[in-house]
Amino acid sequence: MVGARRGKGGDDERIRALGLDPRRIPRHIACVMDGNGRWAQQRGLKRTEGHAAGEEALLDAVNGALELGVRWLSVYAFSTENWSRPTDEVRFLMDFNRRILLGHRDELHAKGVRIQFLGRRDWRVPRRLLRVIDETVELTAGNRGMTFSVCFNYGGRAEIIDAVAAMMRDGVSAEKVSEKTLRRYFYAPDMPDPDLVIRTSGEFRISNFLLWELAYSELIFTPIYWPDFRREHLVEAVREYQVRDRRFGGLA
Ligand code: IPE
Ligand code: IPE
Ligand code: MG
Repeated sequence: MVGARRGKGGDDERIRALGLDPRRIPRHIACVMDGNGRWAQQRGLKRTEGHAAGEEALLDAVNGALELGVRWLSVYAFSTENWSRPTDEVRFLMDFNRRILLGHRDELHAKGVRIQFLGRRDWRVPRRLLRVIDETVELTAGNRGMTFSVCFNYGGRAEIIDAVAAMMRDGVSAEKVSEKTLRRYFYAPDMPDPDLVIRTSGEFRISNFLLWELAYSELIFTPIYWPDFRREHLVEAVREYQVRDRRFGGLA
C-alpha cells in the first residue's frame, strides 16, 4: 500500500530525537477530546469557553501528528448522544465547528491534509454547517497527506446500524455478510482501524466512539483536560504505544 507506514512529514532524525522509533509510528491515531467543560469550570468560566480553548489543542494535535508522519488522525467532535446537552451548548458547538473549519481549512489544505467527516447527516445539523463541511471535504479531497477524520454527530452504534441498513437496501444476501462486506458500508470504508486511541479528561470509557474499529486498538487514558493537550502529550502517548505488545489474539 502506498505510504502505508508514514507520511513524508515524518523526518526520521527528528522522530528519533523525541525518543520514538520512526518505524513504529501508529498509522492511525484517534482522540476523544474530552474535558472542555471541566477545564472551564476550574477557571470559573462558561463551559463553552472550554470548547473554545480546545481549538488550540486540536490544531496542535494535528500539527504534531503531521510532524510524526501519522497517516490518519481522527477526532471525536460531537457524539450522537451530545444532543442531550442544553440547547445553548449544542448551538455553540455547531457554530464553533463551522468557524474552526472556515478558519483552518486553507492552512490544512496547504499542508496536504484530506479532511473527511464521519457521522449522520440528520436534520438537526444546521444547513450552514453542512455547507461548510461539504466545501471542505471537496476542497481537500485530492490531498494525499494525512487524512483527518472529524467524527461529528457520530456514534459507533449508529455507524453499524447505518451500515447494516445500507447493506440490506443493496440486497446483500446473508451468505455474503462478512466483516469485509460490512466494512464496505461504514462511513469511511478505506480508513484503517485506529492503532492508538487517546482519551483525555481522566474518564475510562469509550462513549460510543468507533466501536467496531477499535476492537484491537491500544487505549491510552490521560487525566489532562483537552484544552491543555499539546503535541508533547501526543508524543508521550506514542512513546507508550511503542512499548506495548500488540498480540491480536496470537502469541508474542
Ligand atoms: C468534550 O468536552 C467536548 C464534547 C463532548 C463536545 P466536554 O464538554 O464533554 O467536557 P466535560 O467532559 O464536561 O468536562
Ligand atoms: C465523548 O465525550 C464525546 C466527545 C468527546 C465528542 P462525552 O463527554 O460526551 O462522553 P461522556 O458523556 O462523558 O461519556
Ligand atoms: Mg465530557
